Amino acid sequence: MSHVQPQELGIENIESEPHVGPSTLRRLIAAWPRRATIRTDMADFMGSETVASGLPDYPEHLIPFAKHPNFVDAPEASRRLVNTLAWQAYNARVIAAEEHVANPTFAMLAHGVFPGIDRYEAKEAVQQSHIDEVWHTYMHMTAMQRTKGARSLTLEPDYSHPVTNKRLFELTAQRSEKWERDILFLVWTVVGELHINNFLELLAQDKTIHPMHSLVARLHARDEAAHGPIVAELMKDVFIHLTKEQRDLFAGSIGEAIRALAAEDYELWSEILQFVSIPSAVEIIADTRSLPGTDMIFTDFSTVERLVRELEIEDRVDYDFTKSAR
Ligand SMILES: [Fe+2]
Ligand SMILES: [Fe+2]
Repeated sequence: MSHVQPQELGIENIESEPHVGPSTLRRLIAAWPRRATIRTDMADFMGSETVASGLPDYPEHLIPFAKHPNFVDAPEASRRLVNTLAWQAYNARVIAAEEHVANPTFAMLAHGVFPGIDRYEAKEAVQQSHIDEVWHTYMHMTAMQRTKGARSLTLEPDYSHPVTNKRLFELTAQRSEKWERDILFLVWTVVGELHINNFLELLAQDKTIHPMHSLVARLHARDEAAHGPIVAELMKDVFIHLTKEQRDLFAGSIGEAIRALAAEDYELWSEILQFVSIPSAVEIIADTRSLPGTDMIFTDFSTVERLVRELEIEDRVDYDFTKSAR
């Protein structure tokens, strides 16, 4: 669910529509020249980085161990550095999803690797979305570079392999057939496009952090509010043309994709804590992970649930949507 207002998309009533349909796709495509964030003047909106540098880079409440006594006892400068690196890692997670999962899948959709993308408007929607995604990478890498300069970061941990991609690549490594790997990429992209606004909205509406950081998330979310309905509509065309084996793999992988895409990245948190030399890093992570409900950043996958229902594959999806809640 997105907080982006329909007016910002240049369309009306999209979120109140019970079902996305071909006419929605047509309106989203027509709105793109007005809506697309790629038109945004980067220099303008990134300009405030050094001005408000006293504010946190990342929301404190999203750091899962923020209240752990050993972390609270760490020197303030170290805690501030963890906060900055958390913001960098957030951007890196988005970039990794765009560059290594969404963009290869949009390219496959454009090249006819998956059947059903035949209508001109479907091809147009794929190209527009692909352009948006490439721009998002540029936007987030620019944000990271500005932060690096503003916070005088010389060394940084390697955040380029988030849990989301690692889990996908573990699964594709087990598959010998190209079509199997392609379907897994498609599942990660579809679930990703339908849910990413939950991840972006974590920062987009936040008033405690540097305003440029929430703005980057808000601008990105504006595009993704269109991508979700577009991908849902495209999938209805693709799914009916898949073979039984492809459909089975698609439906059977959705649960794993949901758990991966919402996962708290404890391996990365651990690296960040150790990078900053926070004492008892191992203990902080172990204690945090042992608490119930700390394995996923959010559990609202109602947008995925809607598509699953529309594709009539509820009984084959290994995820309990009734637990969906923020
Ligand atoms: Fe994106
Ligand atoms: Fe997207």
